Amino acid sequence: MKVVAVRNFEEMSQLAAAMISHQVKEKPNSVLGLATGGTVVGTYKELIKDHEQNKTSYENIHTVNLDEYLGIDRNHPNSYYHFMMENLFSHININQENTHIPNGLATNYEEESQKYEQVISDLGGVDLQLLGIGVNGHIGFNEPGTPFDSATHVVELEESTRQANKRFFNSIEEVPTHAVTMGIATIMKSNKILLLVSGKTKAEILEKVINEGITETIPATVLKNHPDVTIIADEEALSLVDDEKKREFDRDKEEFTRTYLLSN
Ligand code: F6R
Repeated sequence: MKVVAVRNFEEMSQLAAAMISHQVKEKPNSVLGLATGGTVVGTYKELIKDHEQNKTSYENIHTVNLDEYLGIDRNHPNSYYHFMMENLFSHININQENTHIPNGLATNYEEESQKYEQVISDLGGVDLQLLGIGVNGHIGFNEPGTPFDSATHVVELEESTRQANKRFFNSIEEVPTHAVTMGIATIMKSNKILLLVSGKTKAEILEKVINEGITETIPATVLKNHPDVTIIADEEALSLVDDEKKREFDRDKEEFTRTYLLSN
């Protein structure tokens, strides 16, 4: 895992967008794996700015989202479909038919999950998967204890996840109890993975991901098994990692800058 240490949310978002738009330009028919949530909002804003200013085109890009809440209509203001439309898709020249988000209102989730796996494999797999992380270490909605060999499936959300996400709803009762998510094995099949981590609330879990061994009780530690993972984390998120360790990250930032910033 490469770790790129940045000052704050803004710098994290700019670097993440630089890596994604580099991917889009290098391979205009890329398959992007996308996430929702507070962490990625700034990245999407930067991508929209880049699309407007530099005309980066999404005409032939395909996207697959990580997850969707169960039991809410896609036009509900808190659905991840709605989130993606509002925060990215309606602002770029992407073909709506090329965007894929699990269906939160399916009648047969077993079948729906298999169909989603099929969609991803028919597209030839994900080129670059964007991830955030939960305070409990979840990636996608793969909560602690999810087997590393899991494919797309339905999950019951942990109380800490519902509490963390209630800021987007009127009350905790409105936060769905279940979601459908790409599995850990699905995420791990992506060619490249970009994990974004920002803010004090993520400091404890990021310290564990960096320093602890690989364990199903901290789902994000599985990323250590992947050959091409970049973590972009800000000062607050890295505040519990010791200075000596942080110095090891300097080389990763130099390499990132050379690859994605100077070459753009
Ligand atoms: C969202 C997702 C989640 C979030 C994570 C962090 O599609 O899969 O894993 O990335 O819960 O959420 P925020 O960014 O709101 O802290």
